[in-house]
Amino acid sequence: MSEIIEINYGPLAALIGVWKGDKGIDIAPESDGTEENPYYETITFEEGGDLTNGEEQVLAVLHYRKIVKRKSDDGIFHDETGYWMWDAKENVIMHSLNIPRAVSLLAGAKLNDSNYKNGKLSIDISAGIDNEDWGIVQSPFMKQKALTKNYRQELTVENGKMICSETTMLEIYGRAFEHTDKNELTLQS
Ligand code: HEM
Repeated sequence: MSEIIEINYGPLAALIGVWKGDKGIDIAPESDGTEENPYYETITFEEGGDLTNGEEQVLAVLHYRKIVKRKSDDGIFHDETGYWMWDAKENVIMHSLNIPRAVSLLAGAKLNDSNYKNGKLSIDISAGIDNEDWGIVQSPFMKQKALTKNYRQELTVENGKMICSETTMLEIYGRAFEHTDKNELTLQS
């Protein structure tokens, strides 16, 4: 009889599935100001099993894909993929994020009891160009013209509802710009 191995996804278990939301607001830079884009999106989180690093660190892994469409024309204007990982021993959560602007990052945070309260999961995770643990990698063009300096993601999940709020600090068009995205999503059955 083959053995069934149960993966312990810990906090990541709450993310598994297909999420949809249509109340998104994106604030993005323009050369002569700011654009505001109402959007809808689908985020799919799939189980990726677990793996071992250096024969000692065990990571439970989810792969995700996030597709964001502008309400004004139904066109895809943000496409993101990566992994969420959880180290049960250290209770560390990590999010690797890649966008096809040639920007990638690894955000991370150590969790504690305050992240799980009354069935609600709250994650506050960040990365920065000066952060030695949780960094950002970007192309030479982006470094020069549209630098991502810091990234922060606040995520809450409770009873099949997710609130996702992201702040990406940019240096673009000769100024600092707070690029923000926020949406509420529902787990599809
Ligand atoms: C829901 C999520 C997001 C949406 C809808 C979104 C949308 C946009 C839009 C509309 C622009 C303006 C340029 C354009 O029209 O293409 C932009 C610029 C930019 N975004 Fe995002 N974004 C999102 C998340 C992110 C994230 C997570 C990062 C990086 C960590 C990021 C990095 C950038 C950068 C570097 C630019 C400047 C490039 C430029 O305007 O030339 N964005 N984004």
